[in-house]
Amino acid sequence: MKTTIIQEDRLAEAIDFLKQEIPIAFPTETVYGLGAYAFSKTAIQKVFTIKGRPNDNPLIVHVASYEEAKELAQDLPSEFSLLAKKYWPGPLTLVVTKNSTVPDLVSGGLDSVAIRCPAHPIALRLIQAVGPLAAPSANLSGNPSPTSALDVLEDLQGKIPLIVDGGDCSVGIESTVLSLVGTRLCLLRPGIISQEELESFLNRPIESASHKTPIASPGMKYRHYSPKARVVLAMHVKDLQGAYVLSPKPTGSMRLLNMQNLYKEFRRADRQGVCEVCIDCTEPQAIGPALMNRLVKAAGII
Ligand code: TXA
Ligand code: MG
Repeated sequence: MKTTIIQEDRLAEAIDFLKQEIPIAFPTETVYGLGAYAFSKTAIQKVFTIKGRPNDNPLIVHVASYEEAKELAQDLPSEFSLLAKKYWPGPLTLVVTKNSTVPDLVSGGLDSVAIRCPAHPIALRLIQAVGPLAAPSANLSGNPSPTSALDVLEDLQGKIPLIVDGGDCSVGIESTVLSLVGTRLCLLRPGIISQEELESFLNRPIESASHKTPIASPGMKYRHYSPKARVVLAMHVKDLQGAYVLSPKPTGSMRLLNMQNLYKEFRRADRQGVCEVCIDCTEPQAIGPALMNRLVKAAGII
């Protein structure tokens, strides 16, 4: 299959493929997604196959509005509308009890569904034309998420017909995932919208999902975000060495580490064939919890 990168002016072609149950890649403000119509089991199964993703790792359903989200869920707690009205469209995914209309394939067999309204005009236009889109990040399972159309091409060339180019993603790492299922609030994946920000907005404590209970979010148990190069976290200045060093405060030949370019740097390091990427973690507070979460996984520590 030939993979074509198209611009926004040819969006009708992307809509046609989605309506024919063929997954395509599109930009969001966080990372690029590999989208399929959420109610087409045929299209959803193709997404799992293309990515090489285990079937028990559920997908996020992308909607264009709060009203559309309500139709996918049931027993919605009051926090759902508060959060959706404050943060949508935006990089916050809410996990809620699913409605029986949502295919089990989308939710990995769980009773819950993850929903998010992305803040990207191309993503919103596709959803408005086709309906809710189930979309994981548009990388091969385990690789760093793609933040440009060329990153998607690198992983999925020949596997999908179309990539819609929306330029570089402004956030650069995946959305914050918050579970509202049950009586407690649980942060399943940290992101640019921080746990502290959500706690202060809701005026309620949020638990952090423990890796000892991977069932909270199946995605947590899989190796993730990794370049081919070995990722080493340097906790002491003496360990800051090697040909490829990323730092939140770079000096000399070090390269800048921040949310927007973490995955870009991982992919760049692999293209250069370096065997090790050293991360300056001497000041963890300069890195922050969301980036640290990805770094620890990339280093294979959890
Ligand atoms: O920013 C993002 O969220 C991007 C863009 C494309 O929207 N998407 C993304 O999807 O990162 P993905 O599939 O790479 O990550 C979804 C995460 C996984 O860790 C998955 O296990 C979790 O969300 N998840 C999905 N549905 C869930 C559910 N019902 N319960 C718990 N965790 C869920
Ligand atoms: Mg992913």
